[in-house]
This record gives sequence, C-alpha cells and structure tokens, in this order.
Amino acid sequence: MKVEITVNGEKKIADVSPETTLLKMLRDEFDLTGAKLGCDVGDCGTCTVVVDGESVNSCLMLAARASGSEVLTIEGLATFQKLHPVQQKFEDLGALQCGYCGPGMIMSAKNLLDKNKSPSVDEIRDALAGNLCRCTGYTKMIEAIQEAAKEINTTNAL
Ligand code: FES
Ligand code: FES
Repeated sequence: MKVEITVNGEKKIADVSPETTLLKMLRDEFDLTGAKLGCDVGDCGTCTVVVDGESVNSCLMLAARASGSEVLTIEGLATFQKLHPVQQKFEDLGALQCGYCGPGMIMSAKNLLDKNKSPSVDEIRDALAGNLCRCTGYTKMIEAIQEAAKEINTTNAL
C-alpha cells in the first residue's frame, strides 16, 4: 500500500505492506535510522518520533496510520551549522553514555519544550516517563533539558 507522509519537512512516499510500522518505514524506506528499535512493544521509547505534534512510539504505529501526517525525527532537529538546544545541552552536560536511548529522549524533550517553555522537574520526568535509559541516571538529562529551556527562552526573548 502507498503511504504519503511529510518527514522533517519533506514529502515522502513509500510502498509498504499493511503491517509495516512507522519505525520500519522510516528506517528501511527513508534511511532515517536515528529512531532506534529497542523493545518493539512500546516499553523503551527509543523509537520516539513526533507525529502531528505528539510524541509517539513509532514501533507501535502502523505506517499506514501515519499517512498524511507530519513526522519529525531526530534527523530533523539540527541544521548543518547548529544542533538543537536539547541536543547541544545533552552533549555539553554529558547526559548520555552509549547514546542508544538518545534520539528518543531528545525527541520527547524537544516535544515537551515546544509545548511548555519552562517545565518543572516533575513535568520533565513525566515527559521522559516512556523513555528508558540503561546506562545513566536521569539527573543529567533533566539538567540538560532545563538548560535547553533557558537557552530557548533567552533566544526567543532577544
Ligand atoms: S522500540 Fe518502540 S518503545 Fe521500545
Ligand atoms: S545512554 Fe545508554 S541507554 Fe541511555
């Protein structure tokens, strides 16, 4: 079946089987391998992307269901010149170790900051609740998200 979606601002079309997930389509049809396959059952969040403004586990969403949607993946955040503030602060604060959970964490954090410019620690914890990390604690990630929020607010105020 034909699926037409917009990914990171670009219109894309793929011919996929009805059981193909959004994650599989992004990775196999569009070579967007930032979103990772972890548990494949909706528990780990490493496949998180943003679909029409909502964070979703792309391993659980059928590609067909995303037809007509706007999808944002980790590849759509940075420009050649500049990382997104969430990416930059994760790097600056050493918030990741192996990095496998990173794309999902960063997409959840980015989507949170799009909706809530100054989230509390509890709100950040809630936003990351579906994203698991097996390497680090979450403290540095939360700090990185708070720092990113400050930077975004400062930049918007200029
Ligand atoms: S791979 Fe999708 S939630 Fe784990
Ligand atoms: S940094 Fe390794 S799983 Fe999170």
